[in-house]
Amino acid sequence: MTTVAIIGCGRIAKNAHLPALSTLDDVKIKYACDLLIEKAKALQEEFPKIENVCTDYKEVLADPEVEAVFVLTPNFAHYTVTMDALKAGKHVLVEKPITVNYKLSVKMANEAKKQNKILNIGVCNRYHKSVELLRDYVAEGKFGNLYHVYCSFRSFRSIPGLGGDFTTKSQSGGGVLIDWGIHFLDLILYILGGAKIKTVTCDAYNEMAKDMKSYKYTSMWAEDTADIENGTNDVDDYITGHIRTDKASISFNGAWAQNVDQNEMFIDFLGDKAGARLIYGNKFSFTDGSTLETVIPEYDIPNMYACEDKAFIESFKTGVKDKNNIDNILESMKLLDALYASSDKKKEIKL
Ligand SMILES: NC(=O)c1ccc[n+]([C@@H]2O[C@H](COP(=O)([O-])OP(=O)(O)OC[C@H]3O[C@@H](n4cnc5c(N)ncnc54)[C@H](O)[C@@H]3O)[C@@H](O)[C@H]2O)c1
Repeated sequence: MTTVAIIGCGRIAKNAHLPALSTLDDVKIKYACDLLIEKAKALQEEFPKIENVCTDYKEVLADPEVEAVFVLTPNFAHYTVTMDALKAGKHVLVEKPITVNYKLSVKMANEAKKQNKILNIGVCNRYHKSVELLRDYVAEGKFGNLYHVYCSFRSFRSIPGLGGDFTTKSQSGGGVLIDWGIHFLDLILYILGGAKIKTVTCDAYNEMAKDMKSYKYTSMWAEDTADIENGTNDVDDYITGHIRTDKASISFNGAWAQNVDQNEMFIDFLGDKAGARLIYGNKFSFTDGSTLETVIPEYDIPNMYACEDKAFIESFKTGVKDKNNIDNILESMKLLDALYASSDKKKEIKL
């Protein structure tokens, strides 16, 4: 039996990790902890495997039976909670992004090393079957010279919790780039088999809700944390950039909101022999440039969160670092920092 706890009882706990952990027979969920006890209690009702609820994560960390914690709090709290958990001798899976910037992320990686604990990051797409298959295709040379990857993570109206944690840079580290872009850019680097980043250039915009009270929308996710009257919105709602690597170059556009009524979430892999379009979170189509045939390969898509949680448990049980170990994700975090720096300084950054 493995004993774990979750810290942070919001959307990702309810929709991803608790359903996944509830399916694992040999996992005991000893605590669900949230600053707001009613959120922890609501999850305990929905997921009866949760044995206890509490509001102070230090109580969880003081329990020697708890081997590992899932840190599912807003981005700024990832750092403190994870550092405390590692120091208390727990293995940690912390949600993406690692935290609000690269410097603190490196400190987290160093602490995990010092404490000899496993620290995994919730860049769940690395466990998506489509992503794993595309990585194999690249490794097998199916694209020929894979010269460019383009991705779009653009939505019509998706600014989350306007005025709350998500749109306050000191709490979130940024907007659409750190929230959605991390998934896209990390999975691209993973599919490429790792790539050394040479230069980046980027422009970030905050246009759609400059005046929060006049932002028009039909629904808003994370509306429970919104504070349109007194909160802050100082993050990117639109982002565009270009990345040169020692492998393919990468370009991207991302929008939490835009005045084009389309949601376009895809990644194009462009090779001289073949190309592919991955529909984010779904399947990909593969086009052979010599036969002009496009196919959608047959495969099942297992639940990536269940795969992620299982791999984390396996990793700390065996002591073997997994692909989502922080050591393998730091490069993505460094990339985000460089992109934001390029936008702030209005110039290309060399890494
Ligand atoms: N992997 C993914 O696809 C994915 C999807 C959504 C969110 N996330 C990430 O998960 C994290 C949480 O996002 P969410 O949408 O669930 O947010 P949320 O606001 O719904 O939930 C966060 C919860 O953490 C609690 N909390 C804050 N500080 C705490 C503390 N010190 N101790 C205990 N509880 C605390 C809050 O009260 C809240 O209930 C974010 O970092 C986000 O980027 C990842």
